[in-house]
This record gives sequence, C-alpha cells and structure tokens, in this order.
Amino acid sequence: MKKEKLLKLLNQMTLEEKVGQLIQIADIDTTTGPVKKLNLSSEMLFHVGSILNVVGSEKIRKIQKEYLSRNRLKIPLLFMADIINGYRTVFPIPIAQGCSWNPKVVYDCTKVSIQEAEAAGTNVNFSPMVDLVRDSRWGRVMESIGGEDPYLGKVFAKTMIEAYQGKDISKLGNAAACVKHFAAYGAVEGGRDYNTVDMSEREFRQYYLPAYQAAIEKGAEMIMTSFNTINGIPATVNSWLLRKVLREELGFQGVVISDYSAIEETIAHGVSKDKKEAAYKAIMAGVDIDMMSNVYANHLKELVEEGKVPERILDESVWRVLTLKNKLGLFENPYGNSNKEREMKILKSKKNLQIARETTSETFVLLKNEKEVLPLKKNNKIALIGPYADNIAILGSWSMFSDKSKILTLKEVLESRIGCENVLYAKGSEILKQKEINEILEAEGIDSIQMENEEAKEKEYLKEAVEKAKQADIIILAIGEHYRQSGEACSRANIEISEIQRNLLKELTKLNKKIITILFNGRPLVLKEVEEKSDALLEVWFPGTEGANAILDVILGDVNPSGKLTMSFPQATGQCPIYYNHYNTGRPHINNVRYVSRYQDIPTESYYPFGYGLSYSKFEYSDLKISSNHIKEDLPITVSISVKNNSKIAGKEVIQLYIQDLVGSCVRPVKELKGFKKEYFEPWEEKEITFQITIDMLKFWNEKLEYKAESGEFKVFVGPNSKDTKECRFEFINS
Ligand code: BGC
Repeated sequence: MKKEKLLKLLNQMTLEEKVGQLIQIADIDTTTGPVKKLNLSSEMLFHVGSILNVVGSEKIRKIQKEYLSRNRLKIPLLFMADIINGYRTVFPIPIAQGCSWNPKVVYDCTKVSIQEAEAAGTNVNFSPMVDLVRDSRWGRVMESIGGEDPYLGKVFAKTMIEAYQGKDISKLGNAAACVKHFAAYGAVEGGRDYNTVDMSEREFRQYYLPAYQAAIEKGAEMIMTSFNTINGIPATVNSWLLRKVLREELGFQGVVISDYSAIEETIAHGVSKDKKEAAYKAIMAGVDIDMMSNVYANHLKELVEEGKVPERILDESVWRVLTLKNKLGLFENPYGNSNKEREMKILKSKKNLQIARETTSETFVLLKNEKEVLPLKKNNKIALIGPYADNIAILGSWSMFSDKSKILTLKEVLESRIGCENVLYAKGSEILKQKEINEILEAEGIDSIQMENEEAKEKEYLKEAVEKAKQADIIILAIGEHYRQSGEACSRANIEISEIQRNLLKELTKLNKKIITILFNGRPLVLKEVEEKSDALLEVWFPGTEGANAILDVILGDVNPSGKLTMSFPQATGQCPIYYNHYNTGRPHINNVRYVSRYQDIPTESYYPFGYGLSYSKFEYSDLKISSNHIKEDLPITVSISVKNNSKIAGKEVIQLYIQDLVGSCVRPVKELKGFKKEYFEPWEEKEITFQITIDMLKFWNEKLEYKAESGEFKVFVGPNSKDTKECRFEFINS
C-alpha cells in the first residue's frame, strides 16, 4: 500500500480503533482466559492489532478471517510468536548456538526456524534475545546468543536479523524480528529474574548496548522492552532509554512492544499509582504496543480525550504499527505466504533435520578429554547410564511448538549405531529428587506430586546402574539440569548438578572404569566434582530435536567437536557474576598475599574461562607477529599467528583476538574480544591466521562519556581461549 493511502487510513480511524492497534492479546476467542482477564469489550476485541503465540496456518487463517469480517477498516491482525530456537524442528538453545562461534551455524538454525514458523503463519518473531549475561544464576542465560561478550553479541545479533528478515520481510521464509529485552535485562541483581538493574551509563554503553545497537543497525523491525528497572526507572516507562537512547541516538524507527504485562507491572514497581498512570507513562516513554495488560485498552482513549496524551503521540505509535503491517504486505495479503500445503511441505522437510544434526554438533563444548578417551573406539561395550540416557526432554524451555515425535533418545541412537548387544542401559537416577521437583512446583502454585517408595526406587536404580556398568568397557553418563531448572523464572541460588546425580557418578567411579559424562543444561554450572570424577566431559546444553544423533556423531568420532564457551564457568555459585572482560582492582590477586582481591576459599579465576573448548585435534600456536608497533588512523596494523593442527584428525579451531588498553582516562577491561576466526584444518596442516587492528577497535566510553580511542600502549592477545594466549604490544598516539 502506498504511504498516502496508509495515511488516509490512519485519518479515517476512530480513537478506539487507534488504541486497538496498540493492544496485543493471546487470542480473539472471548471464552478463553486471557481476554476475560483483560476485561476487553467485545467491540474492542475486533480493534486489537496483534495476537500473541497463536501458531499454525489454519488456525491463524480462521482467526484472521473472522477478525477481518468484523473489523470496519479491514486492518489485518499481526501474529507474533516466540520461536526462540526452533518451531517444529528444534535447534540447540541460543547459548549453545553462540558456542559454535560460527555465524553460519547461527544463521542456518535461525533461518530454518523462521522458515517453518512463517509457513505456519507467524509474522513477527520475539527473537533474538541479545541481553549480555554474566550471572549463571539467572535462568535466562540459556536464551543469550552472545553470552558475556559484547562483540559476540553484536556478531550474532546481526546474523540473526539477517536470517529472520532477509532483504524483504514480506517474502517467503522471512518475518520481522523483535529484539529483546531492551535493555540490560541480563544484569538483574543476584541473577534473580525480573529484579532491579542499576549500573553506570558507561557500563551500559560499553557492554550492554552494543548488541541491541547492532541489531537495530541491521534493520530489526521491533524492540521489546525489558521487565527490569534501569537506574530507578522500569525500562518500560523509561523515556531516557526509549526516547533518547533508542529513538534519538540509535535512530530506531520501528515498533516498540512492552514485555508481557510489563506496563501494568510498573504499579508493582511503585512508579505508577494506577493503571491509568501506567498507560500514560508507557505511551509517553514511547511504548507502542501493550502486550497482555489491559492498561492501553482501558485508559489510552480517556487520556487522549482529556488532553493528557497528545493525539499526535498516539498517532505516531499507530503509524508505526500500520507501517509494519504494510511492510509485511498484509494489507494486500492478510494471510501472508502461509497456507496448509506449504506449511506441511516445509514441516516435513528432511532437510531441516539434516541441518539441525549438522549445526547441533558444532554447538557442543568438549570440556575435558583425558588421555584422549574420546572419540570412542567402536568395538567397546558401553554402559549408557543416567536420567538423560533415554529421555526426550532435551529441547529446553522455549520448545512449546516442537514436534516431539521426531526426537530420538541417546539410547535409541546408540543402539542403532553400535548394536543393541553392545549397549547396557540403566537409568541410574532421576534428575532431581521428588522433593526438589515439588519445591519447584509448589513455588509456582502447582500441586506437588507424592511419590511412594522413593528411597527403595533410588537404591534399585543405583544397583542396576552399577551392575550394568560392571559388564561394560566404558561408561557414558548422561546427566544435567531438569528442563524446568532453566529459562524464564528459573533463577537458582545453587548451580550444581543435583546431589542424586552426583551420587550416581560417585558410585560409578568406584568401578575404576573410564567415564564419559554428557551434560544437558541451560546455564554454566559448578562442575568441579563432576569434572574430577569424569575422564571426558562434553557440554551439550539442551541440544534440540537432533540432539542424540549429533551427540553420538561427536562421541563416536564422525564429528570433531569445535565449540567454545561464551560464558565463564564459575568455581562456586558464590563467584557469580563472573566474566573474563572485567576491570582490574587496585590489588589484583597475587598468590600467597593476604590483602589482595580474592576469595579465601576458592581461586579467583573462573573454572573454565570464556572462549574455552577442546578438540580431538591438537592445535599449537606459535610465532605471533605484529606488522608495526605503532597504529595510526590511516594505518591499521596486522597481527598474525601460526596455528598448526599437530594431529592426524582434521578439525576446526576458533582463533581469538583480544586487546587490552593498558592505561585509560577511566578503568579498562583486562581483555576484550575484538575478533575471531573459525578455521578448518586438515591433519598436520599449518596456517598463518591474520587479524587487522583498527582504531575503531580501541574506542571506548571515556571519562567524559565520549566514544573515543585514547593515546597509549595496548596489549594484543591471540589464542584458543581468553586465558591461554600469546601477547605483544603496540602504541597509539592520537595526533
Ligand atoms: C518473556 C518474553 C516473551 C514474552 C511473550 C515474556 O514473559 O519475557 O521473552 O517474548 O513473554 O511470550
């Protein structure tokens, strides 16, 4: 539709119709809970602008048809959904995808997810989540694509926007992306979900803002506000954040939506006295759509009529929503490109499963491989033990639209790969004791489940596991977090593997057999005990539909693991938040000195550092060179290093470049990732890897909050992770 026609449409709209465009509800069925809860009049129901988490081409078609038959101006509904790591085919959770350090892997996972969802009618996807995360207690670190690093966050934010939106969001297989959660949601105090965020503007701009900014620069159509406060004001009514930073500075012109009922929640935050004030504050701060609270529906019209909210402000928001609908081509074709036939064809595609299998194995991180116990020799008799050995709950928390019938378990795949006669299976234990599950359920107001003879059953499981393990050459132990332990509202104050599973491992160690532990989880965990008792440790996160195939591809040596961590793993929960790109203190840790910055009971450094991950190949780094010791505006310098695969196994390696600004007008991080390359190496192959360093990489938010590079000395580090690096120096003189 031409702009003039769209403007004409806006001018024809009544106040109610305008307000309607700014409301999002979960269905238009008046008999269901959400609509009743929101107390919408049936008239308002047919003015609403968008629908949340309704999927499936036939269902969407039906709703759109009914809606359009009752909507005076025939303005189509927008369908928005949370397709976080897959629709029917589920890919590894976002934190795992990031661990591939491979934009192509992230692109492929994202593209297939949106192709499936778009064919099923979704117009807008509530992804990517680009919140920077440093605290593993927060359950939503699983959704973070860039982990604790702003540079990785930027790279993957751009990749995901490209995959979702393509060049034209109205075309087949594309949809609008909604970047979330704006902003700094990852910094909630104590890792407790929805909690307060209070941080300096410098910290915000330096670490947290870049990934959102990158997504916006790539053309993201929507932004979702976050639940948290930022420096005393909830993000959803924060004018500085939404009008000044987002719209004025970053130039964002798309639609801003609140998170689920976040406008109304400003009452609980204690900054709005009632719903009317909440509506006033949110619209004035620049929130266009109210997701699932009834404050816009019930108060916006009145606020405009009273002259408190200028109609111009309302019109601007409505205009942005109409523009998005127009860009999606919905005025011409309200059903988008989705229809049952196309949906079925795409959802049945074997290719999607193939892509899932290939991408998934690249997201695993090999944390330990003592005496090269992995890959397994194929003639082994294997005891496959643990609550994840024959379990399909491996998709993670955002998999509500998945096709569970396609998931295979480790047991099924292992039996088909090496023959049933070579697999001795035992469950070994539950993931959690019933008491622990009940604690989770009760805290959510769900009735707890009573379990008879739990102790006897535990003993029986353990006995069986030990018996099976005795008959085997090697043990594969599949353990982890319960799927209810990570995701939204899943903060944990203790991030260890449960006692019941650690006990199982302890019993198995007594047999003196090699143990390969496979970890299913959504966050960095405290792994000391598990690591010490395992010969190999493979972090597979929640790996998705093709998880079992991909795991066995790695375990059996068909695929060489190449993932690297995007979050530091802590020594103990008390070390959270922990991240590699921290500042130095005035008293950095020195061994055997008392009054330095340290813990008495654990080491200062992380257990596994950012960027860490092993391979079946042996990569050796040597000969770090720098093209000049001085960098100039017009003369970037080049750093190169020789990397050799000193083994007979081909593999991929992530070569990482870090920089430290040694003296600044304000404190500077001890290291910052500034580049990486993921390279494939043939056996024994040696390559020279080069990086260019430019002045742009040296810029930061200085003492006066200006984004500039300062003269002085810099260190460059290159290596396989953030800890084991080689280093050299250069100087920048600002002329
Ligand atoms: C989450 C968002 C999500 C929204 C809609 C909220 O609870 O914080 O990430 O997009 O629900 O489902």
